[in-house]
Amino acid sequence: MKTVRVKVPATIGNLGPGFDVLGMALKLYTVVEISIDKLTKKNNTQLAIEDKDGSVPKDKKNIIWLAAKEVFENHGKYPGKCIIKSSNKIPIARGLGSSAAARVGGIMAANELCGGKLSKQQILNIASKLEGHPDNAAPAILGGVCISSVYGDEARAVQLSRRLLDLKVALCVPDFEVSTEKARRVFPARIARRDACMSLRNFSLSCIAYRQGDYKLLGESVKDYLHQPYRKKLVPGMERVFKSAVTAGAYGAVLSGSGPTIAALCPDNKVVCDRVGRAMVRASGKYSKKTMYKIVGVDGKGAEIVKPRR
Ligand code: HSE
Repeated sequence: MKTVRVKVPATIGNLGPGFDVLGMALKLYTVVEISIDKLTKKNNTQLAIEDKDGSVPKDKKNIIWLAAKEVFENHGKYPGKCIIKSSNKIPIARGLGSSAAARVGGIMAANELCGGKLSKQQILNIASKLEGHPDNAAPAILGGVCISSVYGDEARAVQLSRRLLDLKVALCVPDFEVSTEKARRVFPARIARRDACMSLRNFSLSCIAYRQGDYKLLGESVKDYLHQPYRKKLVPGMERVFKSAVTAGAYGAVLSGSGPTIAALCPDNKVVCDRVGRAMVRASGKYSKKTMYKIVGVDGKGAEIVKPRR
């Protein structure tokens, strides 16, 4: 059997005013390992799935397998046997890009096992198609803060900033899940011109903040007008948590992806980060009993192939 192991970061989709466009990679990872025997033209792979926390489907509905299968199909050859192992530190269905990480891991591992012919661009195209939006897949693949979009079948991604050393993120992770599918059904068909303008302003300023490392700009620009106002009913206490984070010293706070995790963008100072984390947990206490907080840095490398464990 031949084995490939890939380490993929969690991501914050949207980053406030960048709905479906802006995203940030975090130093919080999922590791996907795929082992296969010989590749042949026969499309009847025998699949075995082992994951450490036991929470993912073990059949051909598994999203790592479905992502890997896209690559095998593309290559025109399939393994007779395929063993998928995953170990995931990214909370599932909490808006931290766990599905993008799993898919990117599956695509990259399968690509390597097929001879590594796909470029990062092709990997991004497949991952964005499977995800339905590119804002988690792009930073998961490239690292840092990325702007991304899809034009027809082609995804485009630009890395705005890679080394955000003096920025830390305090994550407030509630004990309930929000399905992205459901959270994409809450939007009105039209939005007011005023909201569109405010959104353009804040998106542009946020990009400048990340590009120039001028995080104080985030205080003004992190506010969103396109998705958060409609999703707050799915994340009770959202605005209270935002306020508590800023009062405790964060530059600003956003709903991570479609939630329910709230990400506070903080200076690189452990005392401040812990204060922000505790304040957010307190503020969300009425709505979620087992909320926890986590302080993480920004990942600047994106997904990478690592040595398989012996
Ligand atoms: N941009 C996507 C959304 C991210 O907000 O629906 C989901 O993680």
